[in-house]
Formats: sequence, C-alpha cells, structure tokens
Amino acid sequence: MNLSIALPKGRLGEKVYTRFAEAGYPCPDVLSESRKLIFDNRELSARYFWAKPSDVAIYVERGAADLGVAGKDILLEYEPDVLELADLGTGNCRMCVASMEGFLPDEQRTLRVATKFSRIATAYFAKKGRDIELIQLNGSIEIAPIIGLSDVIVDIVETGTTLRENHLAVLETIMPISARLIANRASYFFRKGQMDALASALSGKE
Ligand code: PRP
Repeated sequence: MNLSIALPKGRLGEKVYTRFAEAGYPCPDVLSESRKLIFDNRELSARYFWAKPSDVAIYVERGAADLGVAGKDILLEYEPDVLELADLGTGNCRMCVASMEGFLPDEQRTLRVATKFSRIATAYFAKKGRDIELIQLNGSIEIAPIIGLSDVIVDIVETGTTLRENHLAVLETIMPISARLIANRASYFFRKGQMDALASALSGKE
C-alpha cells in the first residue's frame, strides 16, 4: 500500500474518516458496522486501520502508518516523534482542572490530582508553583474526587455532560484541544507533495 492511515477508534474516528473520503481518499467499508480493523482501497493504494486513540501516534512514529489523526492532548502527553501537519479543527474540547462543585482548595496543602495526563498536569502545576501529588488513572477519572481519592482531576471536557451529571465543575482551563493530522517523518520526506495536499484538503485550506 502506498499510503497507510491510522484512525482513532471512537467518537472522533468517523468524523475524521469522512473528511479523508471528501478529500479524495474514500474507502466505504471503513464505516461498516463490522469488527474488521483494516480496510484497503486498492485503486488508490490506500489502507486505513482503526487504532486506540492513544496508540495512533505510536503507529505513526514507528512508520507502521504513514499518517494518523491524534488529539493534541495525546501529542502533548506522549511527545511522539512525529510531524504535525494540520489542525483539523474537529474533536474540539479543552483540558481542564475540575473538582466537586463548591470545592475550595487549601493552598497550604499538597493538591491531590488524579489524571490520565500526568505530563500535562505536572507541567501545568509546576508552572504555577503548586505542589501536587499525582494519581495516575486510566479512565473514568471523574470518580476520583467524588469518592475522595483526589482533590481535583485534570481531564478532557467536551460537552461538560460528564462533569455536570457527577456534580463536578471546571476550576481552570489548561488549554484548548483539537484533532491533528500527524505524519511519520520518513514517509513525509518521500511523499511531501501528496501529504501536503491532503493536509490542506483536510483542514479546509484548499
Ligand atoms: C472523556 C473524558 C471525560 C469525557 C468528557 O472520556 O475523560 O470523561 O470524555 O466528555 P463530556 O464533557 O462531553 O462529557 P472518555 O469517554 O474518552 O473515556 P474515559 O473515561 O476512559 O477517559
């Protein structure tokens, strides 16, 4: 295959695939309801595969995929050695510090922070000069302050529904997040023209 593309499985994936299809790289089976993970369009010599969002950058960094789509959160957290070609302007959300509604932090005490995003959280609080105790979790982070495992969480907020339904509220916004088109460095070197054109088409800058 000439071009291999890793798509993030989940809510962002379908939106992103549609953009690729509109940009001239269709592969209709991709959206089938099957459990199939890899799809080839032999005519275009293009291959798509679905990967866990946090793994997309690993495939791209190692050259197992030429291109991929990953959230800026993943790129900041794992710092993979890939090229960021375009902001796709979709998958928009924000990285936030949140806690139980009405929570008042005691500035004298070390703040207990639960998160999947250790690097982002550590850098953010270090910049503020705030001592923290980091609690690394892998999902459903919102539970931590409710049951007293942490004082706050650092997590992604999209619609705010998860926070609201669990009586949590945003304390601070760390940064806006959106989906990025990423490329393997060597692949980009050899296919710069094709990839630049695709990046422009995907980000609506044609
Ligand atoms: C993310 C994030 C929040 C939720 C925010 O979780 O960690 O829990 O989405 O979205 P909302 O503001 O629209 O409610 P995800 O579904 O990726 O799963 P996770 O709990 O495993 O992190």
